[in-house]
Amino acid sequence: MTKQDRVLIFDTTLRDGEQSPGATMTHAEKLEIASLLDEMGVDIIEAGFPIASEGDFKAVSEIARQSQNAVICGLARAQLGDIDRCWEAVKHAAQPRIHTFIGTSPLHRAIPNLTQDEMADRIHETVTHARNLCDNVQWSPMDATRTEEDYLCRTVEIAIKAGATTINIPDTVGYTAPRESAELIRMLLEKVPGADEIVFATHCHNDLGMATANSLAAVEAGARQVECTINGLGERAGNTALEEVVMALKVRNDIMPYETRVDSTKIMNISRRVATVSGFAVQFNKAIVGKNAFAHESGIHQDGMLKNAETFEIMRPEDVGLTETNIVMGKHSGRAALRSKLEDLGFELGDNQLKDVFVRFKELADRKKEIYEDDLIALMRTATDPEEDRIRLKSMKVVCGTEGPQSAEMVLDVDGAEQSTNQTGDGPVDAAFNCIKALVPHTARLQLYQVHAVTEGTDAQATVSVRMEEEGRIVTGQSADTDTVVASVRAYIHALNRLLVRREKGGTDKREINYKDVS
Ligand code: KIV
Ligand code: ZN
Repeated sequence: MTKQDRVLIFDTTLRDGEQSPGATMTHAEKLEIASLLDEMGVDIIEAGFPIASEGDFKAVSEIARQSQNAVICGLARAQLGDIDRCWEAVKHAAQPRIHTFIGTSPLHRAIPNLTQDEMADRIHETVTHARNLCDNVQWSPMDATRTEEDYLCRTVEIAIKAGATTINIPDTVGYTAPRESAELIRMLLEKVPGADEIVFATHCHNDLGMATANSLAAVEAGARQVECTINGLGERAGNTALEEVVMALKVRNDIMPYETRVDSTKIMNISRRVATVSGFAVQFNKAIVGKNAFAHESGIHQDGMLKNAETFEIMRPEDVGLTETNIVMGKHSGRAALRSKLEDLGFELGDNQLKDVFVRFKELADRKKEIYEDDLIALMRTATDPEEDRIRLKSMKVVCGTEGPQSAEMVLDVDGAEQSTNQTGDGPVDAAFNCIKALVPHTARLQLYQVHAVTEGTDAQATVSVRMEEEGRIVTGQSADTDTVVASVRAYIHALNRLLVRREKGGTDKREINYKDVS
């Protein structure tokens, strides 16, 4: 493989992805995702935006210390203080990178109210400063795809002369289309002096559903770094999905002869983890990682598949780490078997977590004869640490029917004391949530309540995700149960327990600044 054939994968799940409202991850979750990214062979991990919050700073510093293979990158605005803070965090990495950016399009230039010349000076000053701290500097003209061509060339040239080693071309608002995306990279490679000395990156957003196509078109034109996120997580319609780029390059290597270093068999595992910790479920028909991506339901397809899998399958489920969904466990399976099966699925459990999951596994096995891998994954969505939870569900009963209002009775253990109540509501879930609100008064607003069936059949488990917000702190909770109301209550309590922890720690998830504050 020559340098020309190699495409670097730059993952920004922990920065651009996590920035998406409600996708906030805990510190431990960020470290875990970073370690999965490192293991799967991602070349560069953008671990956060160190100046944005104390939490981001700590996460980037620790990821920098723990990572074995990947370059660890932090984001910084075009300000000396931001760049210093970013360096303080990434400098612990074996291979650190500073990524600094400024919005170069007319609309973005108007925010800090800089003329073209003033902005050019700022780019020179900040990239030079970054390069004095670190050998590996990435520079991005934010909203590049809506920046005047001449000015874009001028700023890219300044950044290269100041020492940038990677130039990233962001399609910040998901506006470009494949042909234009390719032409832009080709134009920069042709016109900008020194362009052949550095790596061009492509960073696309998916507002028009073209992020992956735009990224691949940029690669064909000469970009050699693709910026992406797991599951396409990201603000609005998200970023380019890592799994789509990696698999497209693998499956269509005949017409796109470029290699990545990513081990594609690790895709499903990290996809599930990101869905769980971000609270953003993957849509069923999502390419590569959606639940239906490898399902061949229709009669014609099944017949073809039985004769020859390639009839309707362009890649094998194993290539993305999807093993056949078998009935995996039953009522008599023991704790060791559960631990080992969960490890196969990519979940490493502490003893307390295993104890908690095993109890819930046994309860499930009593109610559901056949336990599938998907059932176990759903159980893991609520793998809380029982010793840390201040609120626990002891028992509940709901009364529902055609005549409202519905009512619920509930007993909770709150800080070691049992408390009970009886409330009504518009439907059983509302009545049950009203019980929680009565027993644990809080002002958090429910932002999202989502229910999915895990498998088929009327005894299927429901997985419930909730997201709530209180004074700028956003938390998510998940649970699964064959009883949808119980799953809902557990998900709500899961989120509330996380909120109590956040309250104790103080601070909010709101970043003091975000990357749009460019002044
Ligand atoms: O979309 C964008 O422009 C960004 C930049 C900060 C690179 O995420
Ligand atoms: Zn972005």
